Amino acid sequence: MSISIRLTGFMLYCPAPHMIMSWVYPKEKIRHQWSDVEYWAEIASTLEGGGFDLLFFADGLGGGNNAPSAKYGIQFPTHDPLTLIPYLAAKTTELGFAVTMSTTFYPPYLLARKLASLDHITKGRIGWNIVCSIASGEARNFGMERLPPHDERYDRADEFMEVVQKLWHSWDDDALLMDMEHGIFADPDKIHTIDFSGKWFKVQGPLAVLPSPQRYPYLFQAGSSDRGRAFAAQHAECVFGIANGTKQMGEFVQDVRDRTERAGRDPAAMKFIWSAQPLVAETEVEARTRHAEIRERIPIEAQLALMSAHWNLDLTRYDLDKPVQDLNLDVQGTKGMLEGYVRGNPDITLRDIAGNYLSSSDNSPMVGTASQVADYLVYLIEEGGGDGFQITPSYYAPDFYRDIVATLVPELRRRGVLRSDHEPSMTLRERMAR
Ligand SMILES: Cc1cc2nc3c(=O)[nH]c(=O)nc-3n(C[C@H](O)[C@H](O)[C@H](O)COP(=O)(O)O)c2cc1C
Repeated sequence: MSISIRLTGFMLYCPAPHMIMSWVYPKEKIRHQWSDVEYWAEIASTLEGGGFDLLFFADGLGGGNNAPSAKYGIQFPTHDPLTLIPYLAAKTTELGFAVTMSTTFYPPYLLARKLASLDHITKGRIGWNIVCSIASGEARNFGMERLPPHDERYDRADEFMEVVQKLWHSWDDDALLMDMEHGIFADPDKIHTIDFSGKWFKVQGPLAVLPSPQRYPYLFQAGSSDRGRAFAAQHAECVFGIANGTKQMGEFVQDVRDRTERAGRDPAAMKFIWSAQPLVAETEVEARTRHAEIRERIPIEAQLALMSAHWNLDLTRYDLDKPVQDLNLDVQGTKGMLEGYVRGNPDITLRDIAGNYLSSSDNSPMVGTASQVADYLVYLIEEGGGDGFQITPSYYAPDFYRDIVATLVPELRRRGVLRSDHEPSMTLRERMAR
């Protein structure tokens, strides 16, 4: 079977994305602070040069409300990734960019306006990771005591999507005239109010932004619960999933495709990108030693703090060594993620999960030589399905991506699974459809 693998780079605009403490690195090798724009320009150019389709920014609007997150820099501080995009777009010609924005906290008009403006600035290279937020700490920054319940957040997000799509389509294709002879800018009959009035939102419109190259951002989503999958099937163009083994990957792909079809959309057009955190070195021993060194730096309290934030629960209050199923956790954050762990191993404990939460385990086939990791990535797509990998750094990001591009990318190219053509004028939607 001939397969094609696409690569995307996973980041947050923070000191370290998912591999906690990955900001710890020999000082003399650090060229730019993570908060500086040059750090990001180096990452974006590296990804583009290495054939990646996308630089993806996860994001949250809370953090820093517990001691470990500040002490160890656990996704804290987190700056606003939208502010980076114009600079990065000017430094690149092909790379797509995806930003995470929450339907729970952004008003739909503001979000539609910002993303349409960014679609212009990037010449059609912007994507949106639709989230409805997962942590109470975020709610408390917006005058709420806690987040609305899990499924209600998705119900509200459904209505949000209806509003923003109407705004993005509030201009007819031929509304802009720029008629110099008669001094007519646009045809007012071809620009429409949306007059939306729903359960949660009331928006008049039209959107005061010119129709952008893609019309609306390319839409990503990463919910894995039942309700999250239903939402993805209704709205998303690409779903991010966690690769918990080829059987689960296959079931996930099939389930989301079935739901997409039931939602009246083309199931074959839906893309699936799996999170992956490789660590590549000259020899497998070297890679495993390096991996163990990084993992040893991570105290369990730091790992639990990240999980607590994602699951919206204070996990330090629970027995770490009991099967997590017996703890009756009321997870209101990334519910589907916990369900995935339990499906993979019914006896799994919090300590087991903390051991390699969102990062590769010590014996992971993602840790090894470039050839071993390339074989494994090909195997995952061949057996589990999907379209590619969201590559998360396991150490200081500019160097991590530079190393991946120098080692893993050529191995994937040698196997004929990674494209090497250049199409600078493509939109992100066109690029993802290839
Ligand atoms: C790979 C991945 C990346 C995610 N990135 C973010 C993010 O950046 N910000 C956020 O608020 N939620 C993020 N989430 C959470 C999801 O958007 C979703 O809200 C959460 O998983 C709860 O939905 P679920 O119960 O349907 O899984 C991510 C989830 C996954 C699996």
